[in-house]
Parts: sequence; C-alpha cells; structure tokens
Amino acid sequence: MPTIEPSFRLGLIGTGIVGDLHLRAARNLPQVTVGAVCDIRADAARSMAEEAGATAYTSHREMLARERLDGVIITSPHNLHAEMTVDAAGAGVHVLVEKPMATTVADCTAMIEACAAAGVTLAVGHVLRFSAHAHQAAALLASGELGPVHAINHRRTAHYERGSRPDWFFDPVVAGGGIVMNVGTHGLDRIQWLGAGEVESVHAHLWKRGGLDIETDAIGVVGLSSGVKASFLFTSAGLPFTDETVVICERGSLRWSATEGTFVSEGGTERQIAPGGDHPVAAFTEQLADFADACTTGRPPLVGGDYGRSVVAAVLAIYESAGHGRPETVGSALLRSTA
Ligand SMILES: NC(=O)c1ccc[n+]([C@@H]2O[C@H](COP(=O)([O-])OP(=O)(O)OC[C@H]3O[C@@H](n4cnc5c(N)ncnc54)[C@H](O)[C@@H]3O)[C@@H](O)[C@H]2O)c1
Repeated sequence: MPTIEPSFRLGLIGTGIVGDLHLRAARNLPQVTVGAVCDIRADAARSMAEEAGATAYTSHREMLARERLDGVIITSPHNLHAEMTVDAAGAGVHVLVEKPMATTVADCTAMIEACAAAGVTLAVGHVLRFSAHAHQAAALLASGELGPVHAINHRRTAHYERGSRPDWFFDPVVAGGGIVMNVGTHGLDRIQWLGAGEVESVHAHLWKRGGLDIETDAIGVVGLSSGVKASFLFTSAGLPFTDETVVICERGSLRWSATEGTFVSEGGTERQIAPGGDHPVAAFTEQLADFADACTTGRPPLVGGDYGRSVVAAVLAIYESAGHGRPETVGSALLRSTA
C-alpha cells in the first residue's frame, strides 16, 4: 500500500472520555497527525501527548500561539466551547467542536461569526451523522419506499446520578443544563435529520432526581419546519439502555435502535435492514475525515455551525417551555433570551 504523508496537523483540547475517541479516530487516518494536546489537568495532557507523540499544553491559548496547527478538536466542558472556538479562529485554525455547540444561542452566533471572519471551517460534532447504520436509515426514508414521514418517537436512557459522569455535567452553568443539553442533543439531531426540518415549536416537561441542580429527565413534543411532529423521552429512570427512534411514515415505519439494529415494518411484519451496535470509533473516524477534507478543500463540513446552533436553540426552547408549562416556539424563546 502506498504511504500517505500526514498533511493535516491537529490539536486536541480536552483529553477526557471523548478526547480519547477523537485520538483513536485520528490514528485511523494516515493524512492526520496529532501534533499537540491540551488539558488543564497536566498529567492527563502529558499522558495523551505521550501516547500521540505530541506536545502537551495546559493552556489552549499557549498551544495555539506556539504550534502550527491546521485544526483543533474541542472536547472541553460545554460553557468553554465558545471561547475556545473564537480563540482558535483568531489563530487561523479550523475547529471541530463537540456537541452541544455551546450553552447559549448568542455564543453559537459568536462562534459562527468568528470562524467566518477568519475564513476557517467550523464543524459541530453531531457524530451520529457518520454512523453507517444512520445512513442506511436516512437513505431508506429518502428512497420514498415508506412514503412521507408523519411522526417520530425517540426514547433515550442515560445515567444521571453523581459519580456516573464527570462532576461538571451536574453544574448548570458549566454544562448549560442536564440530560437534554447533553444526551438530548443527539436525540434532537436524529429528530431533525430524519424529520427533514428544524425544531420550530416545543412543549416539554422536565424533572430532577437525587437533589441535582440539572434536569435528569424530560418528556415532550416538538414540531418541525417540515410539518413532522416528534415526541421524545430522555430519562435516567434506571431502565435498560435504550436509544431508539421510530419513524412513522405513510406506508409503514422505520425503527432504529442503537443496540438492536434498524428495522422496517410494513403490513404488520418487521424486517431487519441493519445490525445494531455501531462501533463508536468508526463514526468518529468518518467525522474527522469529513472535517479534514472540508478544511483542505474549502467545502462545508457535513454538520456546520448553523445546524449546531439550531440544536442548541431547540434545547433552550425546551427549557423555556418546561419553565412556564406551556408550548413555546423556538423563535420567541430566542427573542426572549436576547431581550
Ligand atoms: N459525540 C459524543 O458521542 C459525545 C459523547 C460524550 C460526550 N460528548 C461531548 O464531548 C465533550 C467532552 O465530554 P467528555 O465526556 O469527554 O468530558 P470529560 O470531562 O471526560 O473531558 C473534558 C476534558 O476537558 C478538560 N478541560 C476542562 N477545562 C479545560 C480547559 N480550560 N482547557 C483544556 N482542557 C480543559 C477536562 O480536564 C477534561 O479532561 C462535551 O461537549 C460532551 O457533551 C460527546
């Protein structure tokens, strides 16, 4: 096999659970090399840098000033995404930022504007788009075999008790919210993608378990710009792991379960079209390949800043609706948050 010289020099900001997945993805791509790694935890930065053959930093600003990087991947706590993206753009470095893009719409807009002004790519890590099984589901819906989509139901479980994830996820300021802002952004991405529209209206109810300051459970309905209606349940109620979306179409339905696989039902019988259990590193690898290619060629990434902002706007409208107990439109929630 011909050897491909690395041509895309990457910096990783954040060496936690997801930082590690991005490093493993980078190793799968001969055109990408990880040149620098940053984490405020010096030991963690050093350890990942050693593994990657990269230089370790504890300040992202110092890393950006000293290194010649093509792109950075930002996997820090949610409320740091905006500042780090704007700093990277200021240094002329392309950005792939983890979901949720930021904790406010104003921050998302600042990130989009900073990257546009600097002429750098901004991609948002809605990694689901790069899952092979997700593509099969979306392709089947696009083929028209099942007719138009009418409604979507999404259910997702996640642990939300202290100790189940790093502490900052339980801080409403740092995380920007609880299960909806964190795990729900994957579900809202699925709903928007499969429903072919952006969330326009929401009616949601949230609750908290275990004396936490962030919501641990949420249930609600959303209306999409395509006319599709969707319901969601994000819960920490201790059910067996579930990550399942059912898409109700005119002539049948599609059931996409992360664990069981993807199924099509027509006339009362269900047939499997894809197995469950996508390997996460494979999707992260596809995502990074898309990012590096977008940066190199100048084409837009598959998931850009405007889309990332639409997901954050939907989350914030869910919080507004749950706060006053009535339906809410994304537009008026945004107006209120900027007033
Ligand atoms: N795409 C996915 O499937 C997926 C899955 C889980 C988490 N995430 C997202 O990835 C991001 C990180 O989540 P995680 O689970 O890896 O969290 P984590 O806590 O394991 O990692 C975050 C890292 O950021 C570091 N950090 C904090 N402040 C910093 C600073 N100022 N400079 C540099 N480093 C700093 C922390 O020390 C930590 O190592 C979040 O946005 C999260 O929502 C995405």
